[in-house]
Amino acid sequence: MRKKLAAGNWKMNGLKASLTEIAALAKACPAPNCDILICPPATLLAGMADACSGTPIKVGGQDCHAAASGAHTGDISASMLADAGASAVILGHSERRADHGETSADVAVKVVSVWDAGLTAIICIGETLEDRDAGRTLDVVGEQLSSSVPEGVTAENTVIAYEPVWAIGTGRTATTAQIAEVHDFIRGKLETRFGKVTGNGIRILYGGSVNPKNAVEIFSTSNVDGGLVGGASLRAADFAMIVNAAD
Ligand code: 13P
Repeated sequence: MRKKLAAGNWKMNGLKASLTEIAALAKACPAPNCDILICPPATLLAGMADACSGTPIKVGGQDCHAAASGAHTGDISASMLADAGASAVILGHSERRADHGETSADVAVKVVSVWDAGLTAIICIGETLEDRDAGRTLDVVGEQLSSSVPEGVTAENTVIAYEPVWAIGTGRTATTAQIAEVHDFIRGKLETRFGKVTGNGIRILYGGSVNPKNAVEIFSTSNVDGGLVGGASLRAADFAMIVNAAD
């Protein structure tokens, strides 16, 4: 059985004052049966790691550079994220693919750097509305999956996040039938490529307008092992309900 993961992606939100949400979240979820991860902006990572110490909440980064160190002004490496207290890094989020032109090949190289730093890579894939309307969803997701995920995957070092771009921040959630179709497809691809045991062990998260109202239904959908949550992860009261839905 795969343990569920409730992961929050704070994106470019949060100041030091927002760290009070962590204590509130820990209080609301004292002994969860699922894993809890919050990925704040890098400026808050070390402070959040301190705030999470002694709680079941883990922290992660939202991106990293592919190199371990060097002349890359403004960038942060996976080993720096680990040093600040991260246990995971989100890679290939559609906002990075769109805003920074990241390709699946770029993502695959970053994944290896995350593994080298001893962290878990949360690899995001997902189709645009244009792709879906053109009937290309599985082609696009399949292509992103095969080129963003390098060899060397284990059930511990990798999580896949299916995030349909049109459902992110829009309040428009994919139907459970749409989610099941894509998650079952991803599971099949993982098993074919990495073998039954590894392919079956890798967690697949759904992301895109997950909220306290829809989380129970989404998390009980076929091959959904939790969620990658944006807006609703910012407030402890909302995210605690999502964590409880994953429990
Ligand atoms: P929302 O939950 O705000 O739609 O964001 C989803 C997301 O992009 C998580 O990475």
